[in-house]
Amino acid sequence: MKGILLAGGHGTRLHPVTVAVSKQLLPVNDKPMIYYPLSVLMLAGIREITVISTPADLPQIRRLLGDGSDLGLWLDYVEQPVPGGLAEAFVLAADAIGDAPVALVLGDNIFHGHNFYEILQRNSPDDIDGCVLFGYPVEDPHRYGVGETDADGRLIAIEEKPARPRSNRAVVGLYFYDNDVVDIAKNLRPSARGELEITDVNQHYLRRGKARLVDLGRGFAWLDAGTPGSLLAAGQYVHVLEERQGVRIACVEEVALRMGFIDAAACHELGSRQPSSEYGAYVRAVAEELS
Ligand code: G1P
Repeated sequence: MKGILLAGGHGTRLHPVTVAVSKQLLPVNDKPMIYYPLSVLMLAGIREITVISTPADLPQIRRLLGDGSDLGLWLDYVEQPVPGGLAEAFVLAADAIGDAPVALVLGDNIFHGHNFYEILQRNSPDDIDGCVLFGYPVEDPHRYGVGETDADGRLIAIEEKPARPRSNRAVVGLYFYDNDVVDIAKNLRPSARGELEITDVNQHYLRRGKARLVDLGRGFAWLDAGTPGSLLAAGQYVHVLEERQGVRIACVEEVALRMGFIDAAACHELGSRQPSSEYGAYVRAVAEELS
């Protein structure tokens, strides 16, 4: 399965913070925001990833992540010149996707839960038929795509930012698709706001009876970090857990090591490149513990 990490947009809800800096490079506690969605793809076992961002932001993201080989990944970079919608990602990355199934994760979405690795492994098979979406109960569903299920838990409707949501189940920014998604996206018409909508892609699968909604449930944390308040809340959430447990969430070097993408010596070397930061010390300690 191939991965797409969509880190586009102008982050207008965070202006002036994001006038000169990409939203996805802002810190969420101790690391850049983009580490969180990147680690999600890695935990799903995905190593070939296309990073999409604006022409202005892409060079900085590339400076941070390089070609991915340090983490045992293959990263390539594609520009999204104007914000054409989430579904445009499949058109922009069509060459990289080829005939493979694909996972899309949004660059400002943060996931955390003790069984997340199992959830990801279970729902990202290479022979995926249709799409897998994830639902999460939120207080303010009108801000998101919203999924409605019947009494048997079957998905029956998805709406984008409905004024009157029919459930509190937000559809989160992580999606797994079979390869049909490329053609579906290519044939979409722009919505009223001029964008190719991911919800239109998902409705397409739903009409064919091939969309599944997996509930992440209330014991899970799904946060977005697109506004000053939610960015701060995400940082606080990560800070509390990391301080309390002494582990780090979305430490990509640790994920690469635990997934077997790199060995302990390589992980230690990555930590040694950051001799003065606590993050670097953590990476070295993890490498020593697992060597
Ligand atoms: C997008 C999607 C929406 C989804 C959300 C998750 O909204 O359109 O369906 O629930 O991401 O973060 P946006 O953040 O672009 O408004």
